[in-house]
Amino acid sequence: MSVNSAPSQPAASIRRVDRLSAKELDDLTEVLVSCVAQGASLGFHAPLPADVARDWWAGVPRDGVILLVAERDGRIVGTVQLQPAESENGAHRGEVAKLLVHPSWRRQGIARALMMGLEAEARTTGKTLLVLDTREGDPSNDLYHALGYREAGRIPGWARDAAGTLSATVFWYKPLECPAETSVGPGAEAHAPS
Ligand SMILES: CC(C)(COP(=O)(O)OP(=O)(O)OC[C@H]1O[C@@H](n2cnc3c(N)ncnc32)[C@H](O)[C@@H]1OP(=O)(O)O)[C@@H](O)C(=O)NCCC(=O)NCCS
Repeated sequence: MSVNSAPSQPAASIRRVDRLSAKELDDLTEVLVSCVAQGASLGFHAPLPADVARDWWAGVPRDGVILLVAERDGRIVGTVQLQPAESENGAHRGEVAKLLVHPSWRRQGIARALMMGLEAEARTTGKTLLVLDTREGDPSNDLYHALGYREAGRIPGWARDAAGTLSATVFWYKPLECPAETSVGPGAEAHAPS
């Protein structure tokens, strides 16, 4: 799957990863550290030490988690996860988590392609409802809205940054009503809408 305004030069290829190699761990560490440094609300305070980020990635993916990565020029520049609900009555539900695109690779359709790939994967595993939350006011809200997610509501004071400032989170959901035709297999390519 390629993501780009120029189909002859894909911006990124999207693939699923079930077990991370040392190189993939290094790349994902760099993506996470740079996103946190740039101010993203991802559960960590800046500055995020590389060894802490690498240890965190070493625990991913755990059972049931779908991990997608976006690659460009032989390195991972973006990623997203689908985490299953723990409860028996939530087997149809998945939570989108840790959607990250390296700051140097933004606004090229990479997050959109990752989300499209994740939705395809979710459908193949029988998921009919996706949920997520993201910090109020962040660009990610524009992305989710553009992708057809609906706002469920906001909780004030959800997250505290390193300076002690509280910010609200916005909950989004998207019913997956259409069956999938394909999933993102190894080496698959995504095409951004023209
Ligand atoms: C949010 C994020 C993943 C977007 O990645 P991206 O690859 O730049 O996004 P895309 O290029 O696929 O953008 C797709 C659409 O989302 C919206 N969008 C993305 N970034 C935006 C921004 N900074 N401002 C306004 N709209 C934006 C636009 O509608 C865009 O379509 P367009 O470029 O045709 O206008 C990226 O900014 C990021 O990694 N942020 C830090 C981590 C984070 O906050 N993740 C979300 C946690 S829930």
